[in-house]
Amino acid sequence: MATPPPDLLPGPKIGVLDSGIGGLSVLREIHRLLPHHPTLYYADQAHLPYGPRPAAETRGYVEAITRFLLERGAAVIVLACNAASAASLYDLREKYPTVPFVGMEPAVKPAAEATKTGVVGVLTTRTTANGHLYQRVLERYAAGVQVLTQIAPELVQIAEDGSQYTPESRAIIRGYVQPLVNANADHIVLACTHFPFLSDTIREFAPNATLVDPAPAVARQVARVWPPALRPHPAPHEYFTSGDKDRFAAVVRRVMESGNTR
Ligand code: DGL
Repeated sequence: MATPPPDLLPGPKIGVLDSGIGGLSVLREIHRLLPHHPTLYYADQAHLPYGPRPAAETRGYVEAITRFLLERGAAVIVLACNAASAASLYDLREKYPTVPFVGMEPAVKPAAEATKTGVVGVLTTRTTANGHLYQRVLERYAAGVQVLTQIAPELVQIAEDGSQYTPESRAIIRGYVQPLVNANADHIVLACTHFPFLSDTIREFAPNATLVDPAPAVARQVARVWPPALRPHPAPHEYFTSGDKDRFAAVVRRVMESGNTR
């Protein structure tokens, strides 16, 4: 049998999933930190948004994607989605005890440690705000700090569409950010992986606040849980979507080349 070219050898990979393009904000940090680890990225755009769905429904989608990624060689699974993590992280760890899972939780801890005003804003979606992970984070890290939670579902689609600069989208973003500024929040936690792609506009309305994106910390956690016995083989990064493939491919190119969705 002919030996396949080295870049097609099957080897362990990092599997990353999200409801859409949001997890690319985490993936680019993983690529930065672990440039020789091949990755698989799955965007479940046919079911986006996860945020308003019942957690059990999201859990079903996330488990199916997890199986898909494991079958294609994922040795670590990253739930690069706060809503998917809120709905599924504990469950998946129980079902697949030998697989390391890395999830997202709202980065309240660094914000609570750094705030000078004692007020922290959190921009998120419903599933995340109602999940145990967020409740646990608040109990552990937010003592003595006022945390204002803004459930901002429209922002997910604005990030998907790359429409943050239109007057309509700016008005929606402002509607969520202004109350945080008025309440004197000096840190705004981006508790949805889509929201870093809206940073320009969020900053415009909250110029004095620090935006907290946990993606670099999540990439460091991926490096920590990567099984030391596994040597990653060079292979191309692969991208999958349950939605429109051409559209998704165009966004991936833009994000990975320029860091922006448009
Ligand atoms: N990127 C997902 C998150 O971090 C988006 C949520 C959604 O699909 O509503 O929660």
